[in-house]
Amino acid sequence: MTPTETNSAESEDSAELFDEAAEFVRAAREFVWWHAECGTSGFPRGEPKRAARPEFAAHAESEHYAVAAHQPSATQAAASNAPAPASHSDGHSAHSAPEQRSTFAMPTFDAPVVAPKAAAPLVVLSNEERRAKLQLIDERVKACVACGLHQGRSQTVFSRGDPSAELCFVGEGPGADEDREGLPFVGKAGQLLDKMIQAMGLGPNDVYICNVVKCRPPENRTPEASEMATCLPYLQEQLEVVAPKVIVALGSTALKGLMGPSEGITKARGSWRLFRGKIPLMPTFHPAYVLRQPTREIKGMVWSDLQQVLKHLGRSPKGPGV
Ligand code: URA
Repeated sequence: MTPTETNSAESEDSAELFDEAAEFVRAAREFVWWHAECGTSGFPRGEPKRAARPEFAAHAESEHYAVAAHQPSATQAAASNAPAPASHSDGHSAHSAPEQRSTFAMPTFDAPVVAPKAAAPLVVLSNEERRAKLQLIDERVKACVACGLHQGRSQTVFSRGDPSAELCFVGEGPGADEDREGLPFVGKAGQLLDKMIQAMGLGPNDVYICNVVKCRPPENRTPEASEMATCLPYLQEQLEVVAPKVIVALGSTALKGLMGPSEGITKARGSWRLFRGKIPLMPTFHPAYVLRQPTREIKGMVWSDLQQVLKHLGRSPKGPGV
């Protein structure tokens, strides 16, 4: 390399590092701002939590530690039909320099116990723009063969409800009924979810409902970490467009998909999280779990989680509970 070539390579490296540092500072500011809004007065120190189980490592690195070595770039994604990584509002890929991003690992903090104030809107879109953008994502989902789940599907399952809703429920993935109908939560668990929504004083069109994975896993098994990681960019894009005021993560898989592998539903339910530093997220039990364990205690917990959501949205419940 000539001295001129070395200089230009170095300045490209510096520019890239500068961009990353600026992005990191922006995210850190947003994070601290939100905690301050919530009344948090101190921040825990210590090592970032790492994925305890090796099979979660790729997933953990892709989203929750801002490394995406396994994820295709936008160009690779277009060529291979895999989901493109979510991009920032300035049009830059969030994952443009995977090997360097690992140095900016963001520790996971315990969320404050008070309800967070509404996060700043992500991107303000008209209803038509929202629908058009979602349709484009849905078309890519329909054509997706990026993981093995596509082999067993009858069709992909994208969403139901209103894309402009303030409240979004995210589940695990389609079951047999959903695979047949092409809509999420239309089986028994879906009927209970609809009752929960009704008890909240809302209708099916006051909410937006989707899943972590868009294809039915064989025998309704839990999606594997790699399948979730492959499908996650679609969900991220979907939520970025819908930009709800609150997300409810239904069950452990949804919570892990949205917030990372260290999150267990039993411990996490009932306490606020912040999805991608932007959207308040309430974890609660999956309706299928409530159907399997229909005790007063479990139902009471779900209802108390949903009441927190309503309070955050400035609404009051209509029914006696779940
Ligand atoms: N369970 C889910 O998590 N999602 C569905 O769409 C249906 C059942």
